[in-house]
Amino acid sequence: MERTLCLIKPDAVQRGLMGAVVSRVERKGLQIVGLRMLKASRELAAIHYAEHQGKAFYPKLIDYITSGPIVALCVQGHRAVSVLRAIVGKTDPAEAVSGTIRGDFGMCKGRNVIHASDSVDAAKREIELYFGQDELIDFDWTIYEWVYRED
Ligand SMILES: Nc1ncnc2c1ncn2[C@@H]1O[C@H](COP(=O)(O)OP(=O)(O)OP(=O)(O)O)[C@@H](O)[C@H]1O
Ligand SMILES: [Mg+2]
Repeated sequence: MERTLCLIKPDAVQRGLMGAVVSRVERKGLQIVGLRMLKASRELAAIHYAEHQGKAFYPKLIDYITSGPIVALCVQGHRAVSVLRAIVGKTDPAEAVSGTIRGDFGMCKGRNVIHASDSVDAAKREIELYFGQDELIDFDWTIYEWVYRED
């Protein structure tokens, strides 16, 4: 079982897409084990996106992610990291295929609706940035056997 971090970015919150995004995640068969609304500080944004420091788009990225409230979700499932990336779609929503979240809800990289961790290691680091241990709930998921079947 893997956990990954999803952020509903400020554009999606402002556009009233929180429910639609959460619904896509749930419908896929991923379990939400943590959920929190916050306004990211520039310090938090800088730690989260440290790998992009020095790139041309970095200042705009920090402005974007700190421009309004976001929603952090900790999402759990088998291969959750790659599965969430797949339903999120390509970084540029203009190129993301229809049926993905970015493909259906966005138009450009600077307003791309959602973040998803890109590796198991990144997920672990990012989840710890947004959630304390007591904010993640390890609950019995009653639909588990209707989502997964070992074969
Ligand atoms: N060329 C660019 N111009 C403007 N913004 C960009 C550009 N490249 C990336 N970004 C922004 O920086 C974020 C981080 O870029 P990254 O390469 O990690 O893409 P990603 O992994 O698909 O996105 P995220 O990390 O937010 O899930 C992108 O989601 C996007 O908001
Ligand atoms: Mg990334």
